[in-house]
Amino acid sequence: MWLIKGCIIFFALHAFAISVKAENGHDLWLRKQTAHMVNVVCKKQSPMLNIARQELRRGWLGRAGASFTLTIKPDKSIKGDGYKLDSSGVQAGTEAGILYGVYDLLRRQQTGDLTQPVISNPSYERRILNHWDNLNGTIERGYAGRSIFWRNENDSLLTVTENDKDLWLEYARANASVGINGSVINNVNASAKILTAEYLKKVKAIANVLRQYGIKTYLSVNFSSPALLGKLKNSDPLAPEVIQWWKDKVKEVYQLIPDFGGFLVKANSEGQPGPQDFGRTHADGANMMADILKPYGGIVMWRAFVYSSNDKDRAKQAYTEFTTLDGQFRDNVIIQVKNGPIDFQPREPFSPLFGAMKKTSVMPEFQITQEYLGESIHLVFLSTMWEECLKSDTYQQGAGSTIGRCTDGSIYPQKYTAIAGVANIGLDSNWCGHLFAQANWYAFGRLAWNNQLSSEAIAEEWIKLSFSAGDAVQPTTIDNNDWQDRFLVPVKQMMLQSREAAVRYMMPLGLHHIFYPNHHYGPAPWWAPKDVRADWTPPYYHQADTNGIGFDRTATGSNAIAQYHEPLASQFEKPSTCPEIYLLWFHHLPWTYNVKSGRTLWDELCYDYEKGVDEVRGFQKTWDMVQPYVDAQRFSEVQSKLRRQCRDAQIWKDACLLYFQQFSQMPIPFDIERPVNDLDYLMKMNPLTYKAL
Ligand code: GCU
Repeated sequence: MWLIKGCIIFFALHAFAISVKAENGHDLWLRKQTAHMVNVVCKKQSPMLNIARQELRRGWLGRAGASFTLTIKPDKSIKGDGYKLDSSGVQAGTEAGILYGVYDLLRRQQTGDLTQPVISNPSYERRILNHWDNLNGTIERGYAGRSIFWRNENDSLLTVTENDKDLWLEYARANASVGINGSVINNVNASAKILTAEYLKKVKAIANVLRQYGIKTYLSVNFSSPALLGKLKNSDPLAPEVIQWWKDKVKEVYQLIPDFGGFLVKANSEGQPGPQDFGRTHADGANMMADILKPYGGIVMWRAFVYSSNDKDRAKQAYTEFTTLDGQFRDNVIIQVKNGPIDFQPREPFSPLFGAMKKTSVMPEFQITQEYLGESIHLVFLSTMWEECLKSDTYQQGAGSTIGRCTDGSIYPQKYTAIAGVANIGLDSNWCGHLFAQANWYAFGRLAWNNQLSSEAIAEEWIKLSFSAGDAVQPTTIDNNDWQDRFLVPVKQMMLQSREAAVRYMMPLGLHHIFYPNHHYGPAPWWAPKDVRADWTPPYYHQADTNGIGFDRTATGSNAIAQYHEPLASQFEKPSTCPEIYLLWFHHLPWTYNVKSGRTLWDELCYDYEKGVDEVRGFQKTWDMVQPYVDAQRFSEVQSKLRRQCRDAQIWKDACLLYFQQFSQMPIPFDIERPVNDLDYLMKMNPLTYKAL
């Protein structure tokens, strides 16, 4: 009897193993291929060229036995780490260029997109991930486990294991495969400890690994390091002993890491120290560091994320503070500007600093980690948001002065060009916490390489690389057309729709920053304890009252609109010409105001929230329908996250509509699904944990 039962269990398990494959997503978009033979011809030998060779042998899907040539030779059409590519070889001016060309070729072989010879040059010279990793191993706004770089270790015994090195190598490879060539490996809220001898030893070990794939290492530094580490009486950037301290430190860093990239600095922002503590300007602080880094080829990325509690409009402050300094920064300083004027919200108009700093290098900063877009729970493809930003026209030098062109050197002469993305990477086996969050890492790299790419092209590539007909539960029954129609098309559609859906169920029509405090996951438009500064509370941003809703940034309000170049300023100023996606960002309007659809503002809000929830329900259906095409583990992980996303989209809708209804005093249109949660319950629970407060 036992034997028979045992046999049944064995066969059942065996059958299950055959029909349901598991995959944990660790290979990202670099999944193993059954490669054909290729003969790689290359006159030169070097570690990086060997990697290029290896990659070709590992992934060649061209004609079996074909030859492929790697040629390092300058060419007028090739810039920086760019390359020329056709099916017989890649030519580049640098070894990194060869590697990028090889990855491009392999990608094209997999996606079936190598019909013509290609010339590809990077939009930005430096394409950098910012890791907000703390030295104790936690990650600020990280949702994919702990840091891949730091552990909570005894400072004097920082270890580097073979496993660490293997993981860093995989990380470096993934970055290089999409063209990323720099990593800031610690949090912008920087601990001074990073510059101590013990930590620098570990930084060197990390840099040694990342370098193999052409990734430069950068550090976030604490502006008070001279006082905190050097025991100087202060860190005044103009004091000779402070300058000497930085000189010695920079020398020490370059002795360990000769190709070190430079510093990232968050100064006089959210409590971080900076030059203003000593009556100096941002330019004084940045230039002091820039002068010291210059002989080594290092740069300073100085963040413009500044705001204080006493200004009436947080959205105006970075522009006010930094445009007055335009022209005063050294040429190896780049001002790092977040895409929007406030803080990585689901939707913001672009920061007016872009294009306005005409004599200073400026770089965009995007947030890949989903602090304000559902952490690693919600499926939100961020490429469309970044594309919207990069293609926004600032009009600063006439029509066509897009943010992409204002920052990539096309319009303003910049000695260095760069772009940064706040990483979403951690120790989780799939790196990013959510399978589809991998697409955001991928998209950042692709847009950093080519800021003209469309999100649709990026999504299509990522899907083709991350899934295949062979993943299907019964692959033999699926042909390629079937896979395209029933998997690729609907999944791509879901990705492209996902950010707009999130905007709708969180903050439609230009609403912003109405998040639950601290974790910023769910809604809390009501949250305003008396002892908290106003600009850290949602009512500061939505300004809802019985008269209406929205932040008045017109001439009669904060006049933030004046920071935009014409014709935008005039367009934003009038509600009738202001794009509705920014309506409540720029205007405080009555609940009965008529929007373009003919509805009242209140009704439009209700329909938007409803539509956002419906769209997530649609994503659930899409995903369930593609089940036969996805391996079991990745399918069920995404399915369960979508369930939670749906529950939480409903919470957003109910919380916002029931809360704002207290002011509008208007009914929710009757063809809309009724709320299913009580406002009282929502106001008393933490939307991330669902626990009562
Ligand atoms: C946001 C985020 C912080 C982060 C800051 C920054 O405010 O919530 O965690 O430190 O941005 O970009 O510096």
